[in-house]
Amino acid sequence: MATNKTPKGLDDLFHDTLKDIYFAEKKILATLPKMAKAAHSPDLKAAFEKHYTETQEHVARLEEVFEVIGKKPAAKTCAAIMGITEEGAEIMEEYKDSPALDAGLLAAAQAVEHYEISRYGTMRTWASELGLTEAAQLLDLTLAEEKKTDVALTKLAESAVNVAAEAAE
Ligand SMILES: [Fe+2]
Ligand SMILES: [Fe+2]
Repeated sequence: MATNKTPKGLDDLFHDTLKDIYFAEKKILATLPKMAKAAHSPDLKAAFEKHYTETQEHVARLEEVFEVIGKKPAAKTCAAIMGITEEGAEIMEEYKDSPALDAGLLAAAQAVEHYEISRYGTMRTWASELGLTEAAQLLDLTLAEEKKTDVALTKLAESAVNVAAEAAE
């Protein structure tokens, strides 16, 4: 029997992925303070605290994108971010007293940023394809901040944090 349901389209995919990243950003918002608290390096602590403030803005921007497409903000469990933050939690537990803790936290944080960069890059492209100019601009603003954060974390990783871990070996 033929179904009379219209096949899902790119607009549905955009809405579903928006719910996924909305869930992810809220999860990151809950995780960043724990990472800031755990970090030994004051620079790393400051980086996490700065990105916490930016992440609040990312959540607000996503709510604007929901408004642009005429939908209520809703989250859909994102298995990827659950896995990435679970690994981060393991590092915090297993390397609690280790000089390598900050290197582990940096690696976990960069995995988060790379996930976000991947999602925001895709969603910005889809928004443009769907003619959602305002949504594309909002997603682009966040994408730029995720990329900047990734660069800042790389710099921290290359400098004091990893040096400290090696010196303690
Ligand atoms: Fe974000
Ligand atoms: Fe981020």
